[in-house]
Amino acid sequence: MYTTVIPKIAKRMVASSFSKLNYEYCVIDWKDVITFHVGLYVHVPFCERLCAFCPFHRVLFEPGLKDEYLKALFREIDLRELEGDIEWVYFGGGTPNLLSGEEIGQILQKLKEYVQLEDITLEGKPPYFTEKYLKALHRLDVTRISMGVESLTKKVLENVLRDRTDVPMIRDIIRNAHDLGIAVNADLMVGLPKQHRGDFLFDITRLADLGLDQITTYPFTNAPGARAKPGVSSHDCFEMIETAAEILTGMGYERENVWVFSTPELAQKAPGEHPAEYFGFGPSAFSKIENVQVVNPFLDEYILCLNENQTYGYRIEFSDIFNAWREFAHRLYDLKLKKSFLKTLPRRLKVVANLLKLAGYIDGEEVTKKGRFFVHDLTIHVIENLPHPLSNPVARGIACMNIFF
Ligand SMILES: C[S@@+](CC[C@H](N)C(=O)[O-])C[C@H]1O[C@@H](n2cnc3c(N)ncnc32)[C@H](O)[C@@H]1O
Repeated sequence: MYTTVIPKIAKRMVASSFSKLNYEYCVIDWKDVITFHVGLYVHVPFCERLCAFCPFHRVLFEPGLKDEYLKALFREIDLRELEGDIEWVYFGGGTPNLLSGEEIGQILQKLKEYVQLEDITLEGKPPYFTEKYLKALHRLDVTRISMGVESLTKKVLENVLRDRTDVPMIRDIIRNAHDLGIAVNADLMVGLPKQHRGDFLFDITRLADLGLDQITTYPFTNAPGARAKPGVSSHDCFEMIETAAEILTGMGYERENVWVFSTPELAQKAPGEHPAEYFGFGPSAFSKIENVQVVNPFLDEYILCLNENQTYGYRIEFSDIFNAWREFAHRLYDLKLKKSFLKTLPRRLKVVANLLKLAGYIDGEEVTKKGRFFVHDLTIHVIENLPHPLSNPVARGIACMNIFF
């Protein structure tokens, strides 16, 4: 009974809190925002080809547009006058490694005019992580790269308009990166159309053998903006990830959360106890500091506003209970529910936590297999259904899926 009722109640509760989310499009006064330990996210919205599965804000690469973007980004960094201790920096996209090493260096230099930088990661497409490029990243103190492999199966990739990366290329990238002390993550997608269970598990075993520091298994979500449709149910997708988890943990990887597996050395360096607070720069980037979330506009509007020296964004102030929900969901996703944390929950969430225990989703501080499915399914539900300020008609276009985080 609990197994069917609790997920339904949880989804309904989440949906009803979404309906209260109203963003206001306004000039953001960043000087009012006081921060301590934060991460920095930089969105680079360019791609050479638009993959059919991708819901992130991206446009086709054009050199002139890229120059305008960089000019706007530098201005945004100046206008926001950052302060605080930066715990991590993440370049996401789009395809950040379409920018040259020199351009990445200029962005980092601009940020360093305000803050010291730590733990820098850059995401991108495998073919652009050449030996020369990796050396440039190393000189800029980039400590991790994350590459989108998605699948090794040709028919799966062709169907979603994605280029295939072959295993020798992945092996070379890992070797070159490791020679420079750079850690490597590979993203694999689960449940793409035409992707069979055997294809995915074959990919996992091939990749796990190559010495990656981290493997991320993303269930394909039908977030607004993705043109392809998932090939399997959320449950089948979860079962594939669970089998991957058995293979990977058997090979020495640790499960960092529902979808991410890391070597013990990398897992140790994972951000601490609390869900991060972060500042996002660039078009469509999210910032989340305490109860306030801000979402930057899309590229064309972003450039226009910054040409006028204005930092416009979609702003929302979450209620304390919504924020508590987010934190609770985060910890479930990270599969870590310390008793000391459970004690601090507001009464309404304590009831939910007790129901989850009763239903066998939590056992002591552990999230059980049933609980992992619940989190996996709920996270997909959130990504697919959350009202997104950029997908409303005023700002038009596609959504970005990291609103939940
Ligand atoms: C922001 S994307 C950037 C990928 C990078 N530009 C590249 O081309 O390799 C980061 C990762 O999100 C994942 N992703 C993209 N679309 C997704 C979707 N609809 N559902 C789940 N994961 C998705 C992919 O694994 C991808 O590598």
